[in-house]
Amino acid sequence: MGLLRLLALCTLAACCVARSPPAPPLPPGPFSPLHPLGCNDSQVLAVAGFALQNINRDQKDGYMLSLNRVHDVREHYQEDMGSLFYLTLDVLETDCHVLSKKAQKDCNPRIFYESVYGQCKAMFHINKPRRVLYLAAYNCTLRPVSKRETHRMCPDCPSPIDVSSPSVLEAATESLAKFNSKSPSKQYVLFKVTKARTQWVGGPSYYVEYLIKEAPCTQSQASCSLQSSDSEPVGLCQGSLLQGPPRQVPLIQPLEKSVTVTCEFFESQAQVPGDENPAVTQSPKKLPQKNTAPTSSPSITAPRGSIQHLPDLDAEKPEESKGESPEETFPVQLDLTTNPQGDTLDVSFLYLEPGEKKLVVLPFPGKELRSAECPGPAKEKNPLILPP
Ligand SMILES: *[C@@H]1O[C@H](CO)[C@@H](O)[C@H](O)[C@H]1NC(C)=O
Ligand SMILES: *[C@@H]1O[C@H](CO)[C@@H](O)[C@H](O)[C@H]1NC(C)=O
Repeated sequence: MGLLRLLALCTLAACCVARSPPAPPLPPGPFSPLHPLGCNDSQVLAVAGFALQNINRDQKDGYMLSLNRVHDVREHYQEDMGSLFYLTLDVLETDCHVLSKKAQKDCNPRIFYESVYGQCKAMFHINKPRRVLYLAAYNCTLRPVSKRETHRMCPDCPSPIDVSSPSVLEAATESLAKFNSKSPSKQYVLFKVTKARTQWVGGPSYYVEYLIKEAPCTQSQASCSLQSSDSEPVGLCQGSLLQGPPRQVPLIQPLEKSVTVTCEFFESQAQVPGDENPAVTQSPKKLPQKNTAPTSSPSITAPRGSIQHLPDLDAEKPEESKGESPEETFPVQLDLTTNPQGDTLDVSFLYLEPGEKKLVVLPFPGKELRSAECPGPAKEKNPLILPP
């Protein structure tokens, strides 16, 4: 009996001893240098705004993102180097194309049935006394809103359709033809369809958004199908094509086919060949701080990021119902290091004076130990467009 108890005590001790020696991989808990902040703090919202502005500015394609809410935030204060923030942001696609370079305040989230939503992770460096704002790295994952859910809420709303379908191309071509016919001199060619929706309005109707390029000829010239391959898109058009009902349907007054179009031209275009793009050289000047990475900066010191587009969650349901956690539905990987003790990131190029400037970067924190005030309040509260 006594021996048994002794044995039990021994195994207990052995297990405890065995468990404690391997040091915990990350210094979590009170020893973590990452301080959780409230997701509704005004300072945090400002940092999130800067980060998203920089993410938008880094894109060559797609639509600008707006902040729906701050999901999580940690600050790593590094003495005279300022801070490195680890941000997790819930975002919504807006109606502004990134090439439009519009101000964030002029962009609106899309109507719910066209929503594209998701999550971004970003590492953002701020050194206030030195007036440095720098997006060190980011990654985002976006998905369109559930087609099934939106259809349930609004069966008659337009629904997304493949941008490469022939009807979509026809709608884009016909609406652009209408625009060109009213354009006094310059003619435009279709560059790329960026959005397409369809709806039944007495017949099939198509709504399209597409980028246009300038055609290398004017209206008076006969053939205008040539594209100068190196030119940039100059504007974004919204067009629609409403077809009448099929001829076989009796008793219905045949609707006239109707075509609509509106185009918006991007503000800053490099019109002079060989000249530097004014959009690139001007934007940092407009801001009081150095908040963009100089394009000449060596990319090895700071990997930037990308935006990943995944399909509607419904499409993945069968394989995903195998007990994956909700966090997996918007997988965003952002690790500049896997070393639990951290690594250094050379940011000397951000500072004017000579000498090395290094930031400590840690693996991106998980949701443990986040502030009780996170996630913050959402601007658009519809759960269909909020990442879990
Ligand atoms: C967030 O902050 C704003 C302004 O400070 C405040 O009016 C609002 O009530 C806060 N919301 C929440 C959910 O804490
Ligand atoms: C960003 O995501 C991509 C996959 O989409 C991944 O390959 C890359 O390593 C990520 N970047 C960082 C810094 O983790």
